[in-house]
Amino acid sequence: MGKLFGLLGHPVGHSLSPIMHNDQFAHLGLDCHYTAFDVLPEQLENAVKGIRALGIAGFNVTIPHKVQVMEYLDEIDEEARQIGAVNTVVNNNGTLIGYNTDGKGFAVSLEKLAGENFLKKKILLIGAGGAARGIYVTLARMGAKNIDIANRTVSKAIELIETNQFPLHSKAFAIDEAEEMLAEYEIVINTTSVGMSPHIDHKPLSLKNMKAGTILSDIIYNPFETNWLKEGKRLGAITQNGIGMFVRQGALAFELWTNIKPDYDRMEQIVIQQLRG
Ligand code: ATR
Repeated sequence: MGKLFGLLGHPVGHSLSPIMHNDQFAHLGLDCHYTAFDVLPEQLENAVKGIRALGIAGFNVTIPHKVQVMEYLDEIDEEARQIGAVNTVVNNNGTLIGYNTDGKGFAVSLEKLAGENFLKKKILLIGAGGAARGIYVTLARMGAKNIDIANRTVSKAIELIETNQFPLHSKAFAIDEAEEMLAEYEIVINTTSVGMSPHIDHKPLSLKNMKAGTILSDIIYNPFETNWLKEGKRLGAITQNGIGMFVRQGALAFELWTNIKPDYDRMEQIVIQQLRG
């Protein structure tokens, strides 16, 4: 019998996950299908009950359900618990197990660009929301030693650092303080939505003090290349958009569901094709 997978979110109309996963199922000859379900927050608990009743084999969770869904699962993987959010659920014969592949997806993607010793580099994270938390916790768990956080609301950056018990000496900064010290960082990561379409003229942080050769990573992929990344490139940065993180979180979810490593390059091609229209 075929297996069904899904995405629970609101809204989900523009999600690229169904195309990415269904192409991969077909490519690998798997009798599986992935579909997006638009679920309002007040219906999330019922939706998870429905998944149990229907025997749906696994699902992704996206905005705004990544935190709330944890209440309705049977087990939570340790990394997801530490991040405080779940984006992937495996239905293991009726036991729903929650994982988080966002942070790991980002880390794998960054490692491809920055090289094996990327965890030793001096890293600045911009933002202190859910996306920043996933990346901070994952990089810290992998052994990163130097991660500082800059955020518009400094208290949130302090809270992110203090609620995690990692042996890191992270510092929290306001955006303008971080701008002054930018030359100290080898990797700078934007985890905020600043610069996302349609507000493409906004930038999360000025790059005037950035050294050439700095790695700039933006988790945004709409637009494909933010103005912030374009400016960074002009100033000699090595840049990366959010496609890698998106596709790798999907590839890691695919592997948790099927125990098969998907064809990453093909997944990425499908997503890029869709975005470029
Ligand atoms: P996500 O789950 O995508 O990370 P979030 O939890 O709402 O979303 O976090 C949004 C992040 O983007 C926060 O760091 C937020 O800064 P504040 O903590 O000061 O709110 C940041 N952000 C969003 N809009 C911003 C803006 N216009 N200027 C600066 N930072 C912004």
